[in-house]
Amino acid sequence: MTTITPSQLNYDHYSGTKYDCDIVNSIPHHRKIHHLIANYAQKRLLNKNIEVLDLGVGTGITSKLLQNILPSAKFTAVDFSKQMLKSAARKLGKDNVCYIFGDYAKLKFNQKFDLIVSVIGLHHQDTTGKKKMFKKIFSLLKPGGIFIFGDLVTYKNKYHAAYNNALHFHHLVEKSSNKKTLTEWAHHHMFLNDLAPIEDQIDWLKKVGFKIEIKFIKTNTALLICKK
Ligand SMILES: C[S@@+](CC[C@H](N)C(=O)[O-])C[C@H]1O[C@@H](n2cnc3c(N)ncnc32)[C@H](O)[C@@H]1O
Repeated sequence: MTTITPSQLNYDHYSGTKYDCDIVNSIPHHRKIHHLIANYAQKRLLNKNIEVLDLGVGTGITSKLLQNILPSAKFTAVDFSKQMLKSAARKLGKDNVCYIFGDYAKLKFNQKFDLIVSVIGLHHQDTTGKKKMFKKIFSLLKPGGIFIFGDLVTYKNKYHAAYNNALHFHHLVEKSSNKKTLTEWAHHHMFLNDLAPIEDQIDWLKKVGFKIEIKFIKTNTALLICKK
């Protein structure tokens, strides 16, 4: 289940440019995981004419990076915030991009994809919701398809979880441009995020049939490449 509404996330009040600046500053290692995604796409997917689904496209940061590497790919961009979709459309354009407004947990898709990407997009699902989404993503991929999964996570060991959460807040204090931004993102992290241990998420992904390559795990941020 999606545990949050777009109005709670406050994204509809954001200008795309302010959001782009805030998300990069507020998510620990946001730049690093996008750098790793670009490297992977350049090595494995360059110029491929593929179907890509972005679950929680936001302002289109992740899809834009992929669009530059895969100019002939067709994108389906999903978000339940109209404002976010508008900002994504400004970045990604109209050619070869289909925009879908709605909750990805409830939407039915009538095609299969070569690549599904969700970066900082699934952590508002509760445990059941995450498991269901992993199953849904597996079933939406063509044989051999790839799921690029980057997200905020926590850890099974409570001390390790506490330590990394402290680092996350420290990151917010250091990087936020002012008190209002810090308050907004600290509140978001404390009360709106629903993080699950990375060890559990890897188990759930394996159980639905994925082969996992761990690309990055640090602080509360992880990047996994999941192959069907
Ligand atoms: C934080 S943005 C990430 C965008 C981009 N990948 C990045 O890393 O900058 C995640 C987006 O997911 C959307 N989102 C969260 N839960 C959703 C759901 N259940 N259905 C559709 N969109 C959702 C939010 O509205 C938000 O725009």
